[in-house]
Amino acid sequence: MTSRRLVLTRSAALFGAASTGLYLPQLANAQAAKLKVGLMLPYTGTYAQLGVAIENGFRMAINEQGGKLGGREIEFFKVDDESDPSKAIENASKLVQRDKVDVLVGTVHSGVQMGIQKVARDSGVLCLIPNAGVNTATRALCAPNVFRTSFSNAQATQALGKVMAERGVKKTVWISWKYAAGDESFEGFKQSYTAGGGNIIKELSLPFPQVEFQALLTEIAALKPDAVACFFAGGGAAKFIRDYAAAGLKDKIPLYGSGFLTEGVLDAAGPAANGITTALHYSDALATPRNTQFRLAYAKNFRTQPDVYAVQGYDTGLLLIHGANAVKGDLSSKPALYKAMETATIDSPRGKWTMSPAHNPVQDIYLRVVEKNENKVIGIAAKALADSGAGCKMV
Ligand code: BEZ
Repeated sequence: MTSRRLVLTRSAALFGAASTGLYLPQLANAQAAKLKVGLMLPYTGTYAQLGVAIENGFRMAINEQGGKLGGREIEFFKVDDESDPSKAIENASKLVQRDKVDVLVGTVHSGVQMGIQKVARDSGVLCLIPNAGVNTATRALCAPNVFRTSFSNAQATQALGKVMAERGVKKTVWISWKYAAGDESFEGFKQSYTAGGGNIIKELSLPFPQVEFQALLTEIAALKPDAVACFFAGGGAAKFIRDYAAAGLKDKIPLYGSGFLTEGVLDAAGPAANGITTALHYSDALATPRNTQFRLAYAKNFRTQPDVYAVQGYDTGLLLIHGANAVKGDLSSKPALYKAMETATIDSPRGKWTMSPAHNPVQDIYLRVVEKNENKVIGIAAKALADSGAGCKMV
């Protein structure tokens, strides 16, 4: 039964607001409704742990603000993207067309991101990338409604190649999975390492997410390089580290990588990880009050230690909170929303970072070495590093 008293109360409220010029029916309705957040992440497969860490970090940032966005309650919609590019458009469309999410948070895998990018560009839905580094998302295929809170694939390895060249490492073998993240990490590495005088004597790869490394490790042993540099992440990274040591290479040929190699896998990799040198925009061992506070809170909430993926999820939450607060929860106020997100300074556990004009983080890249089960910081590999944003036109 509709309550007459309620109807009367509502009309009185409308009359009062209208007479003061405050009543905006669409805005009021839009803000009263729950804000729909779609999470498209891998929850199975070699990147499953990464998806969970991102969701944890994202939820933690929002819970720290009372569990609302711009004053609105939140409804979550989740899809397991399985790190499978062939299902990416269908999965993203489910969230955007069927569930009608206001914001799509995703994903981890660069190939899957390409599908999300298409759906985001076609639909105009706000899209926040909490990991996938595929360069083109913030280069030629950039879009006003797409913001990345993580990195572009070239960033970490560009910093790594420079450091290795400066250290006088002359001959390197590169190894990674054969897909966009591996290929573009290699491009970044090649650019700075060869510019510094380094020589890449072989580029080795295997299809994602295969982990049969033995034949490739035998080839590395025969090539006798001064060092090996690589891109691997998640479960596959832990296995690569263990197999590298088991093949007897650990004490003969120093292993370098983009820092994903040693993120979230140090327990699984064990002593085999000691001495690996990497470059990344975060380190668990960063001794700043912000990082310490974040790590304690995360460990208390989730009974596990955070890694770079948790930080990226957390920062995605911080960016969204910043944007949503600026428009008081009305995400349809696009120009104001985008402007707020473009000009935000994110006070992250990784250190403060800002958005480049192409919507990719401008951030410090740390040089790290694994010691006593942590990624000890031994220097800054690149200060305030921005991706080139080549070919980005925000239209
Ligand atoms: C990627 O596919 O872009 C990616 C996946 C895991 C870690 C880093 C990058």
